[in-house]
Amino acid sequence: MANQEPRVLIAYGSKYGSTKEIAVHIGEVLNKAGCATTVCPAGEAATDLSAYDAAVLGGGLYAGRWHRDAVRLAHRARRSLRKRPVWLFSSGPLDPSASEREIPPVRGVRRIADRLDAEGHITFGGRLDESARGRIARMIVKSGKGGDFRDFGQITGWAQTIARDVAARTGASRGT
Ligand SMILES: Cc1cc2nc3c(=O)[nH]c(=O)nc-3n(C[C@H](O)[C@H](O)[C@H](O)COP(=O)(O)O)c2cc1C
Repeated sequence: MANQEPRVLIAYGSKYGSTKEIAVHIGEVLNKAGCATTVCPAGEAATDLSAYDAAVLGGGLYAGRWHRDAVRLAHRARRSLRKRPVWLFSSGPLDPSASEREIPPVRGVRRIADRLDAEGHITFGGRLDESARGRIARMIVKSGKGGDFRDFGQITGWAQTIARDVAARTGASRGT
């Protein structure tokens, strides 16, 4: 990688917007640390990622699977992704568990991580509230199991480790 601002793609698969907000936050942290970031829906990301030095790919969890746009990008951009450092995240649990312990990736995401030789994966808590449409989503919220379990301190910390790693690889040094 050249000794210039590292360019990082942060792509997300999100139905109700909470994973998108995590991706935006990761982008802000990387930006502050001196990266040039692009945050975009996984469905709109390019298949050829030669414009980027590194990538972060995340998806909301639905019935034990990543949001399909994240799965599809991992597949269609696999050649590009394998050539650069890539970090994965999942967002889902509607309880504090993701802040309390490491939650391993669901099976499909584990496979993707292996195929892409990902640098790492983390599961963040999720969010579901009254604004979510969909029968099951509304049932979950109605039964009192919704809420916002995203831990932005944890997300910041994870993004900072990526920023440090990317900076070390590119020789960039603005600190985090
Ligand atoms: C129908 C439905 C299924 C879900 N399945 C899971 C699941 O299998 N595992 C999990 O951790 N969270 C699950 N969740 C919680 C979502 O992953 C969580 O709300 C997430 O933050 C949604 O991301 P998004 O707003 O980006 O779409 C589910 C939510 C809904 C509405």
